[in-house]
Amino acid sequence: MRQDLLVFLKELLLFSAATKDTVRAAGLGAVMRGVGMVTRFIPIPQPTLLVGPGSSGRLGQAVAGFGHSKILIVTDSIISKLGLLTPLTDALTAGGAQFVVFDEITPDAPIPLIETAIEFYQSNNCDAIVAFGGGSSMDASKAIAVSVANPGKSLRSLAGYLKGLRAPVKIYAVPTTAGTGSEVTVAAVISDPANQRKLVIVDPRMVPKMAALDPSLMTGLPPHITAATGIDALTHAVEAFIGNWKTPYSDGMALSAVGLIFENLRTAYTDGKNLAAREKMALASTYAGFAFTRANVGYVHAIAHQFGGKYHTPHGLANAIMLPHVLKYSAPNITEKLAQLAVRAKVGTEEESSEVLAQKFLDAVDQLNADLGIPLVLDALQESDIPDLARAACHEAHTGYPVPRYMTQAQCEDMIRKVLPGAAKVAAPKKKKA
Ligand SMILES: NC(=O)c1ccc[n+]([C@@H]2O[C@H](COP(=O)([O-])OP(=O)(O)OC[C@H]3O[C@@H](n4cnc5c(N)ncnc54)[C@H](O)[C@@H]3O)[C@@H](O)[C@H]2O)c1
Ligand SMILES: [Fe+2]
Repeated sequence: MRQDLLVFLKELLLFSAATKDTVRAAGLGAVMRGVGMVTRFIPIPQPTLLVGPGSSGRLGQAVAGFGHSKILIVTDSIISKLGLLTPLTDALTAGGAQFVVFDEITPDAPIPLIETAIEFYQSNNCDAIVAFGGGSSMDASKAIAVSVANPGKSLRSLAGYLKGLRAPVKIYAVPTTAGTGSEVTVAAVISDPANQRKLVIVDPRMVPKMAALDPSLMTGLPPHITAATGIDALTHAVEAFIGNWKTPYSDGMALSAVGLIFENLRTAYTDGKNLAAREKMALASTYAGFAFTRANVGYVHAIAHQFGGKYHTPHGLANAIMLPHVLKYSAPNITEKLAQLAVRAKVGTEEESSEVLAQKFLDAVDQLNADLGIPLVLDALQESDIPDLARAACHEAHTGYPVPRYMTQAQCEDMIRKVLPGAAKVAAPKKKKA
């Protein structure tokens, strides 16, 4: 039954891809809704969650008892130098587990580096992975896990839906940013530097078996990374909530994430050592991950992935710059949803009209970005790149994202043009009264 559903889903996605140039936006929306009727029945496994300060050590204790012959820990050099691995590695050692560390992952996990990590995994005869870090380390881990289970298939050929025949090796995850939600998602985003593109591998079997949300690992995260990754989590929740694959479950997760982010992201940004705010942001990121791994994302991500591939713009920053524009474009079709988000973000009350509340949520997103020092423009963006960026973003969105209001190529170009350096700046949002 599950295989039948997956085959049907693939066919629907191919159909939507093949017809994207001729089907008008309304038709595309109908196709995507049809796909969503199928995807909602695909089972998505969930990891066992360990939450709270010290949970990375508790994850190490648990994993040490699982009988793996050797575990590969995948991380980056900053995390390694900060000593963040110590509670995990101490627990693994105390539990008698063998492990090796690959700490060379760089942002957006480029393919050649993942290939080096795959060789490292194989030459050390590993049989499980602990993904330790931000989305880049977690997604590199997922890509390694699929690749070593499917020898002979290149990483590029594994990009897409369920391209690996065999199940990935077991992954355990310790996120150190509160942003991507990759610890609970079916996706791995890697970069293909040769083609200046980001690739997405999708396979529900890549979801980690266990994840530790340990806020004590996040207290040294610099404010600008806290801001960008926090808005990545907000974007996951919002795009899942306004899209057409939403379910009661994804809505619950998305609304919880939005509430937690509006309550805690400013504090995590200005007072990074605040463990309570860090823990709530870690939970928000995971909830947003649960929401979008079921309901998917939209144009914000479609455009952000192109900025990441072309200019190496950090993923969260790219999302943060585009989120206000995509929301304003989508607003006529999602007034009620924006109103619900406003109430959950506590920027309005249920007594107000939907129109008023929707506008309040749009203003609140602008204000949050301003408070977090998110720029209004993307410095690296070049006018001459915009047609290709828009084409690739539309392709990505129109072949997989159930967005509430579709764009033409020209509309997408115009939207990207709004964040050109020197573009007419959006009026700075009003500062709140003290
Ligand atoms: N798989 C998914 O579902 C999914 C979802 C969203 C984004 N992504 C992908 O994740 C990647 C971005 O991940 P990210 O935003 O978490 O950033 P990242 O993993 O690239 O890390 C950003 C920077 O923060 C540093 N850092 C991480 N944790 C730290 C800590 N605790 N203290 C100090 N420094 C720390 C890292 O060393 C790095 O320099 C992108 O490639 C994006 O496309 C994947
Ligand atoms: Fe994201």
